[in-house]
Amino acid sequence: MTDYSIEAAGLTDLDQLVRVENACFQTPWSRESLSALLSDQTKCLCLVACRQESEFRRVVGYIGLIHVLDEGEIANIAVHPEYAGQGVGFALLEAVKQFCAESGILTIHLEVRPGNAPALALYRKCGFLLTGRRRGYYSDTGEDALLMAWNVM
Ligand SMILES: CC(C)(COP(=O)(O)OP(=O)(O)OC[C@H]1O[C@@H](n2cnc3c(N)ncnc32)[C@H](O)[C@@H]1OP(=O)(O)O)[C@@H](O)C(=O)NCCC(=O)NCCS
Repeated sequence: MTDYSIEAAGLTDLDQLVRVENACFQTPWSRESLSALLSDQTKCLCLVACRQESEFRRVVGYIGLIHVLDEGEIANIAVHPEYAGQGVGFALLEAVKQFCAESGILTIHLEVRPGNAPALALYRKCGFLLTGRRRGYYSDTGEDALLMAWNVM
């Protein structure tokens, strides 16, 4: 898919973020958590991938980054299943890496479920390396989390 743009998200995108989140996860973030991500622009960056469909700006994916000083953490990334496999997740993650490189954020961390093959492959493609494992991290299933990180060169 080439006809989309990556833009800074705002609170007006909340309904569409909830829709994408609910379509992507068995244990989705709550509306309140997504609202907090969109609201705190001093510590959070939220980018959306959008398609213009006539008068409607459709959010097809989003990424959230929480950052403090020179470190960032990918809070979440999701692409609506209807638009998966078309380069949107890659574009969102590369946009966040660019923001970090321009903002003095030297390292980006993230956690991922070991069984999430699409996400693991995306992170590896974007240069993230395995840094560790957190036992029983996910409270819904008791799964471990794999820890990954990317460093600005
Ligand atoms: C993970 C996710 C964000 C990927 O987004 P996407 O837009 O479908 O990914 P892209 O099309 O940009 O693909 C980029 C790379 O990701 C990997 N990838 C994407 N989908 C994949 C799949 N189904 N199987 C294996 N690898 C996959 C590939 O390495 C791909 O590169 P390639 O096309 O050169 O092979 C998307 O699958 C998603 O929203 N999943 C549900 C939510 C989720 O699990 N989020 C991560 C939480 S840690």
